[in-house]
Amino acid sequence: MAVGHPPSAISHQPPAMSHPPSATDRLPPWARVRPARLDHIARVAALAERWARERGVSEAESRRWQRAAWLHDALKDVGPAELARWTPQGDWPLPVWHAPAAAAAAEAHGESDHGVLDAIRYHPIGFDGWDDAGRILFLADYLEPGREGNRERRAEWASRVPRELDAVLREVLAARITHLLERGTPIRRETLDLWNQLAARG
Ligand SMILES: [Fe+2]
Ligand SMILES: [Fe+2]
Repeated sequence: MAVGHPPSAISHQPPAMSHPPSATDRLPPWARVRPARLDHIARVAALAERWARERGVSEAESRRWQRAAWLHDALKDVGPAELARWTPQGDWPLPVWHAPAAAAAAEAHGESDHGVLDAIRYHPIGFDGWDDAGRILFLADYLEPGREGNRERRAEWASRVPRELDAVLREVLAARITHLLERGTPIRRETLDLWNQLAARG
């Protein structure tokens, strides 16, 4: 995917004062997020951190999950014109365009881990080429406790992730695809490819 140049208009906007300095320090300098967005990002990162600890992964792997979490929505609050400076939209609908744009920005600023970049790029839709960074980000983004609705069910899924990552991923993806079907929303090829991969594993 093409990498754009940093738009001069993008700058990090200091978020609200409800977070310790460490939260803002972990956002990249090119991020622009509203306070509520930072709250969400911080909850995603905290859940990924908890899962890393409970799953017993290495420090290096945990840091990959943290980079994916802190970068994934870093451009979600900028407009289409600014997103377009980072990467072409292609056939991505506007609501998910921030994901490839953030991946392009991360890559332009030195992120070279393809697993982390793919986690960011495909986090709203799924990807059958993900490693654990992508799978964890997808689940943490959906299961973080600040989201409205189905709180008990999502908390139960979240508690199972450390020991049943593949099973929970399959259940969550099935629920999300069911929701898309019920709304009559088109389902992207990447989402179906991930489902087919998980279903083939049994
Ligand atoms: Fe997102
Ligand atoms: Fe998110």
